[in-house]
Amino acid sequence: MKTGILGVLACAVLVSSPCAAAESYDARITEKQILTPAPPAAPRINGPVVCGARPGKQFIYRIPTQGERPIRFEVQGLPDGLKLDANQGIITGVTPEGRGDHVMNFTAKNGRGETNRPFKLVVGDKLALTPPTGWNSWGGQMINVSEAVMRKAADLFVERGLADVGFQYLGIDDCWMRLTQEMYDHRREAVVKKHASYDYRATGTIGPIRDEQGNILPNGKFPDMKAMTDYIHSKGLKAGIYSSPGVKTCQDWAGSYGHECADADQYAKWSFDLLKYDQCSGGAFLKRLKRNVPGFQSRDLWAPMAIYLRSQDRDILFNLCQYGQDAPWTWAPELGIQSWRTGGDLNHNVNHYFNNALRIATELRAYNQPGQWNDPDFMYIHRIRDVSKMGEPSVEIKLDTNQRYQYVTLWAIICAPFFFSCDIENIDEFTVRLLGNADVVNLNQDELGHTAEVVRNDDKKETVMLKKLADGSKALAVFNRDAQNEAMISVNWEDIGGGSEPEVFDVWRQKSLGPFKGGISVQLSPNGVGLFIIKK
Ligand code: GLA
Repeated sequence: MKTGILGVLACAVLVSSPCAAAESYDARITEKQILTPAPPAAPRINGPVVCGARPGKQFIYRIPTQGERPIRFEVQGLPDGLKLDANQGIITGVTPEGRGDHVMNFTAKNGRGETNRPFKLVVGDKLALTPPTGWNSWGGQMINVSEAVMRKAADLFVERGLADVGFQYLGIDDCWMRLTQEMYDHRREAVVKKHASYDYRATGTIGPIRDEQGNILPNGKFPDMKAMTDYIHSKGLKAGIYSSPGVKTCQDWAGSYGHECADADQYAKWSFDLLKYDQCSGGAFLKRLKRNVPGFQSRDLWAPMAIYLRSQDRDILFNLCQYGQDAPWTWAPELGIQSWRTGGDLNHNVNHYFNNALRIATELRAYNQPGQWNDPDFMYIHRIRDVSKMGEPSVEIKLDTNQRYQYVTLWAIICAPFFFSCDIENIDEFTVRLLGNADVVNLNQDELGHTAEVVRNDDKKETVMLKKLADGSKALAVFNRDAQNEAMISVNWEDIGGGSEPEVFDVWRQKSLGPFKGGISVQLSPNGVGLFIIKK
């Protein structure tokens, strides 16, 4: 709500930064307040307008579209080799052999209206021209991840509208594989404590980890990987899997060391579209290799899997997880790796979300580009499990409502891989609407891939950030960093290179606010955030 002259006066009293000519706006919220409006009845096409793919590879893309079903889709300019399911809006097939751009036009029509959106398929070497989006099983499911959960997650993406705003990947994290009796015995005590109530035998988790040909075997919770990915693909969504360059994963189950080729082949045979490759026990190897093999470098541990993934008949994104050690941002892009973790696990330290994001917006920003993204870890939103007692039910993260809005806002504007991780079977409406705001996801997916810059920052008081958008507009985010007190945070247009009276759009409320003269003074709750598009 614009609050006129009174707000301006309040601004003058409350803040030290200059805001003389700014108009004020009240963006305070109440506990668990849902800001995202209900989806429109007429069709609205969301998601990226650009997509990278390698030549001659399997391709799948669901046109993320809100609106009452049934919707009828049309695509103009679809290259040979690709076909459209006009009722579901899913494009499948094989990408052209030649490199080049294919400009298309998507149309979606229902009883309430019709809309268009351009889309460019860039066939070449780069994937992930915009940050990958999706959900990962770690935070919410941990050791309990199963084929059944993955299928449910795919259903939920469609039923609750997350697929309609552009969420694409469903990623299995650790604990889909097996461990041998010997591996189990070796760490019985730790296992008993951490994995209490997990039944290793009933879940078929103990046993040979590979078949006689050396192919990796899933445990009993994944009776048919291929049928599972087929199911995920039937909804136009994509599937992710997990392993380690070490012998063992972080939960001490089977990793890929020495079997990189066989594992990459197997992931492709199972039709996976993404691999999260997590250092875990590979760290000890790396130290030994560096000590004993002249010239051995970190990248040499990761290169085999990167090479084998690239040789498959489908594009498989590579998400490297080395907790920010050995500066992967300096060498991972050359290996064809699309994203890398920049630090430790946020589920243990969820309140570090702000620092993780600020680091990407500052010292690591040069490494964020279309095709290569810093990964500050998932948005751990809503209910997650405690890693020291995985058998126990999930619990609410210790972030208040405003912090959850801050967290998602930051991931959107710093171009983080837009992955959330929570107990998806018990996700609530607040969280679905928090994550499912099409305008917020679209900011993350903006084709320019510009990482928000810090305009000013005081960790105890306020942070102001600005992200340039492809159409020449700017996304402005103002954060109240004070956990106890409300604040009025002001930004003058002249300080952010704006015109004198631009149109302002409130992204969370999906509402045009009209022209604002001079600047904006935003009234925020403790830990509050305001996210605006300042139109060109
Ligand atoms: C590490 C990773 C996490 C998760 C766990 C699984 O801690 O950083 O994201 O994958 O391993 O064991």
